[in-house]
Amino acid sequence: MTILITAGPTREAIDPVRYLTNRSSGKMGYALAEAAQRRGHRVILISGPTAIDVPDGIDFIPVESAADMAQAVGHWITSAELAIFAAAVADYKPANVPTQKIKKTGETLTLELVKTQDILGSARSQFGFTGVLVGFAAETENVIENARGKLIRKGCDLVVANDVSRKDIGFDSSENEITLVYAEHTSPLPKSSKEDLSQDLIELLENLHPKKED
Ligand code: CTP
Repeated sequence: MTILITAGPTREAIDPVRYLTNRSSGKMGYALAEAAQRRGHRVILISGPTAIDVPDGIDFIPVESAADMAQAVGHWITSAELAIFAAAVADYKPANVPTQKIKKTGETLTLELVKTQDILGSARSQFGFTGVLVGFAAETENVIENARGKLIRKGCDLVVANDVSRKDIGFDSSENEITLVYAEHTSPLPKSSKEDLSQDLIELLENLHPKKED
């Protein structure tokens, strides 16, 4: 099947030389892309800037900002049967981006931020995606409860939840310990490398069918 994956951080411009970003390495999304490609799927990888080499044989679409990522996802998602949103998209971006570099004129500088588009949340409502929709939830507390809230709000079939308050897993780490959160039940997976987890996840997702609308 065709699988669309978002990965990495986004960069939100402050001025022509500065930006806001986060600690996402992109490892989870790229490991998923590689696992999916190895299992014979067509993979469309839409990624913010990372230091990882793009695996051979993958349709790679590099993006910078959340707006760029939203546009690429909107363009490609209807050609996929499965979409996995592993990107750490910035939730806010600077409200105004001057065309010239900001000079240090005052003792303090206040940036006004506005919300970015919720790309995963737009998949069903705006992009008309009807395939299997998988989100990620990086949480520091009430992991399962918060992940299930996202599952419902964003119309996902599955949310992959992890506790980012732990230093040994998740963001910028090679390992992860995840819990699969479905509408009716949860399924914890043991701590493992992102490569092994990706392999297991892709196999599992091959057999998941989109939830029918009531
Ligand atoms: N996501 C997205 N677009 C955004 C923000 C998030 O597509 N602008 C996706 C992420 O790729 C991930 C999921 O949504 O799959 C969860 O992201 P998160 O930021 O944790 O969710 P929020 O609903 O923004 O909740 P929170 O209040 O915890 O930030």
